[in-house]
Amino acid sequence: MTPRYAMFLAFASLLLFLYCKGCYVSAATCHPDDESGLLAFKAGITEDPLGLLSNWKPGTECCHWNGISCLEDKRVRFISLYGQPDNPKGYLSGTFSPLLSKVRNLRSINFIDLRNMTGSFPKFVYHLPRLIFLHIENCKLSGPLPTDIGRLSNLNELGLKGNRFSGPIPNSLRNMKELTQLHLGGNRFSGEIPNFWDSFPNLVYLQLQNNKFSGGIPTSIASLAPKLGNLELNNNQLSGKIPESMNKLVDPFPDLAIERIASLDLSYNKFKLGKIPKWVSSSTVINSLKLAGCGIKMRLDDWKPSWTLYYNFIDLSDNEISGSVVNLVNGTERLEGFWMSGNQLKFNLSDFKMHESLKNLDLSRNQVFGSVPQSIVGLEKLNLSYNRLCGKIPMSKFPAAAFVGNACLCGSPLPACRRQ
Ligand SMILES: *[C@@H]1O[C@H](CO)[C@@H](O)[C@H](O)[C@H]1NC(C)=O
Ligand SMILES: *[C@@H]1O[C@H](CO)[C@@H](O)[C@H](O)[C@H]1NC(C)=O
Ligand SMILES: *[C@@H]1O[C@H](CO)[C@@H](O)[C@H](O)[C@H]1NC(C)=O
Ligand SMILES: *[C@@H]1O[C@H](CO)[C@@H](O)[C@H](O)[C@H]1NC(C)=O
Repeated sequence: MTPRYAMFLAFASLLLFLYCKGCYVSAATCHPDDESGLLAFKAGITEDPLGLLSNWKPGTECCHWNGISCLEDKRVRFISLYGQPDNPKGYLSGTFSPLLSKVRNLRSINFIDLRNMTGSFPKFVYHLPRLIFLHIENCKLSGPLPTDIGRLSNLNELGLKGNRFSGPIPNSLRNMKELTQLHLGGNRFSGEIPNFWDSFPNLVYLQLQNNKFSGGIPTSIASLAPKLGNLELNNNQLSGKIPESMNKLVDPFPDLAIERIASLDLSYNKFKLGKIPKWVSSSTVINSLKLAGCGIKMRLDDWKPSWTLYYNFIDLSDNEISGSVVNLVNGTERLEGFWMSGNQLKFNLSDFKMHESLKNLDLSRNQVFGSVPQSIVGLEKLNLSYNRLCGKIPMSKFPAAAFVGNACLCGSPLPACRRQ
């Protein structure tokens, strides 16, 4: 054996050795901490009717378990478990094991629609220094948020919607300065909405709908203007400020020139807006406007929004709006949902432009007259009940409830028309 050849062999076996160390690492199952943290999570699950966690087994490669993803160093970074909201068996029951904190390198947690997970806000997340996305949504967590929740100051997204959390939004939340999304809708939060929104320079989504918040809209929401695209405050108990002059509530957004908001929902609070706020009318980016039950009292023909072409959704139900929707609807191009129930609208339905994009139309409880046009057949949902419509209803899939309470509509699904 020549020395050169010996050297070659030595080098080759060194390579092989190094390579096989590589092989060994990649064939390794799972970091022991990650494995024990995840198995503790599984142990906290009492029911898993769909077997979401069926391949979570000791001694197997945890990076390949359902809902788990790792990066190249084989440490678990992402955990995403989704129940199936429409499937009666598509849920998980149990509690979130505090030992999930052992999965130290987690960056993203998505527990969505697990529905039967009980307990309070899981504090193990405090021990995950790299966590930036935390979504625990449509589970069944309850109780107040911890007052020191602001310790999670690296979070980019916090989603806790659809649980049973209660109490106020803790003040410390203002320390989450990196937040781009905050979803707290569909809980039982109460108290005033804190006035700390100037602490969130990057917030794009703010969703606080379907809670029990009271008081006014905090003025600092205006400082979100540069980025905010979506503001949902509907179904709370918010009210406008009451100025000296009695019984005249003012527009609670005097200075809220939130130019980027594309989707606004303030429906069903205690606002008495009177008119549609000016900054809404002058917006050129709004495509979803929902101000149902907001005390708006106006002739719709007097509303001159600057830009309606891109409106997809308009919900002004349960106000005191009179006049005709014909011009407004004619000025849109992509309307998908139009809800105007419970107003005092008076126009001939034959003049209503049924855009091809329109799927959902509710004009119930108004004074709409004329006959029902053939073009309703393309809609997915329709409600024309309690108006002053007359004549034969075109053949469609809609039930009688969509047409009852009119002056003289007839034909299926209502009783047949009589020849006169
Ligand atoms: C889980 O949730 C389903 C549907 O939400 C419910 O019918 C069932 O009783 C729950 N099971 C438990 C153990 O809570
Ligand atoms: C609808 O708009 C078109 C142009 O966009 C216009 O020509 C037409 O007269 C309008 N119809 C009604 C009923 O306003
Ligand atoms: C239609 O409108 C009436 C009156 O607003 C309401 O009571 C009814 O629930 C609505 N029906 C449907 C199917 O939306
Ligand atoms: C509604 O408009 C149609 C079409 O212009 C017209 O034929 C009809 O007479 C109008 N109906 C009423 C009640 O004004």
